[in-house]
Amino acid sequence: MAAPLFHPQFPPAIQNVINRLYTETIEQDPRVRDMALAGGMANESHRGFYAAMTDARMPVTPEFGHLLYVLARTTGSRRIIEFGTSFGVSTLFLAAALRDNGGGQIISTELFPAKAARAEANLREAGLADLVEIRVGDARETLMPDGGEPIDLILLDAAKDLYLDVLRLLEPSLRKGGVVVSDRADADGGDGDRAAAYLDYLADIANGYRVASIATQALGQTFLHDVAIHVCRSAGG
Ligand SMILES: C[S@@+](CC[C@H](N)C(=O)[O-])C[C@H]1O[C@@H](n2cnc3c(N)ncnc32)[C@H](O)[C@@H]1O
Repeated sequence: MAAPLFHPQFPPAIQNVINRLYTETIEQDPRVRDMALAGGMANESHRGFYAAMTDARMPVTPEFGHLLYVLARTTGSRRIIEFGTSFGVSTLFLAAALRDNGGGQIISTELFPAKAARAEANLREAGLADLVEIRVGDARETLMPDGGEPIDLILLDAAKDLYLDVLRLLEPSLRKGGVVVSDRADADGGDGDRAAAYLDYLADIANGYRVASIATQALGQTFLHDVAIHVCRSAGG
């Protein structure tokens, strides 16, 4: 028997949805990706590539998902913003943490209505939909500052060359001690200089972050992630 992808640790209603989505990812995502790439859409931050990938789940690795849960628990997160919902795998890990923290809100953002609808269905099936609002459209517009509660955790998992723009948009509301987590900022696609500028921004201590870069493995591949704590007091903290 093949080794499990990860060790189940959530109540069955949540775990079953996570398991199904990872199984579907293995079975279906490679074919969708091959078709997208064959169509000449190799550039991951192009709207066209994401449009060609609307049937692909593209989730965080299971291990990184568990880290998201742990980070949201250790920060006592009540308000989380996510850039890149897709089918909602990372959202499920984060929403499970919010539920275990006693409640709160995730605002997640997705370019395509069809993907947002599938994420909403998955969250409903897991019994976590009441914790999540999915905003459809370009995150640079849907995440305009709303003067809400300070943000505890930001997850960046979409177009890499927009990570810095989205972070700067949210930063005034990020509380001191809040966490910024990003997936695969090193990955090819889009404007590589903008993605590098995001990593440089986090690494420059004058900007008020302390960052750790980590890697997780899945299906024989290595995926890089960056986890940063916001150490400076901001308007929101
Ligand atoms: C890698 S997937 C997210 C995976 C998800 N976090 C998970 O673990 O299941 C990235 C998603 O970001 C969406 N996206 C890309 N550019 C975006 C933008 N400018 N605003 C909002 N969503 C965007 C894509 O359509 C895609 O579904």
